[in-house]
Amino acid sequence: MSTEKFLPVEFCKGNNGLDKIVLRESRGSSAEVYLYGGHVTSWKNDHGEELLFVSSKATFKPPKAIRGGIPICFPQFASHGSLESHGFARNRFWSIDTDPPAFPTNSSSKAYIDLILRPSEEDLKIWPHSFEFRLRVALTPGGDLMLISRVRNTSTDGKPFSFTFAYHTYFSVSDISEVRVEGLETLDYLDNLQNKERFTEQGDAITFESEVDKIYLSTPTKIAILDHEKKRTFVIRKDGLPDAVVWNPWDKKAKAMADFGDDEYKHMLCVEAAAVEKPITLKPGEEWKGRLELSGVPSSYCSGQLDPQKVLSSS
Ligand code: BG6
Repeated sequence: MSTEKFLPVEFCKGNNGLDKIVLRESRGSSAEVYLYGGHVTSWKNDHGEELLFVSSKATFKPPKAIRGGIPICFPQFASHGSLESHGFARNRFWSIDTDPPAFPTNSSSKAYIDLILRPSEEDLKIWPHSFEFRLRVALTPGGDLMLISRVRNTSTDGKPFSFTFAYHTYFSVSDISEVRVEGLETLDYLDNLQNKERFTEQGDAITFESEVDKIYLSTPTKIAILDHEKKRTFVIRKDGLPDAVVWNPWDKKAKAMADFGDDEYKHMLCVEAAAVEKPITLKPGEEWKGRLELSGVPSSYCSGQLDPQKVLSSS
């Protein structure tokens, strides 16, 4: 790569002229973030392979949220409340945060961007709480994608507020029927397809052969998605986010979504680090932090071995 052209952070225009930030690491990995939604729409490894799924029918037209990538669900996950599905953060215009508070970093990466969302007058009519939502999106030198969210209650009325949250990550997979998720076996989940009833996961492997829409509860901090055909494993590390939503619309729901191709369900899987079952409550002045780190590693990764240190040192 030419060093002259190498910019760790580039501000440009994306689809439909929307503002976009491109992050690049010197070994070749990259990520793209739209101010619209504070939405990550691309994450590529150092071979230039796209690791996130974005629908070919995604509209990139406000007020519709972008179909794919990593929508931010806030202050409400899905229909768990009276707001529109997944809250409003994913279809608001975020700003560049020019004065972010110190973020503890342990990497020398320059490829990061800080965004901020504050409620508008209109937002305060539908959700009457003052807040600041700061989002850092960063690429590590090794090409991992990191998202750190900080939500602060900035109200002066003395009142706490509660919210639910998810990083609605759409992973790109070769073929959904070749994919297995590890780390959620034997856990309890709420099944969105069965009136949010609570069940316990049975069997020792989570694989896919029909629509799935489950909220796994009290999940471990590491979850893996094994893609046999691509010989790739995604390792999801999370902090402050006890739940994990697993979603694939399958054929019928895919056809019903205008911004999703009929067959695209075969090539995506959402595994969403989330806080849904127990809403987060913040008193005035309090701050919550939710962190997500994604790695895409070759599947020399051993099944059942959820130790990311071993995964990374063996790659
Ligand atoms: C998932 C939910 O997180 O998002 C599903 O669990 C929902 O119930 C899906 O259908 C997509 O939601 P939307 O609003 O982006 O179409």
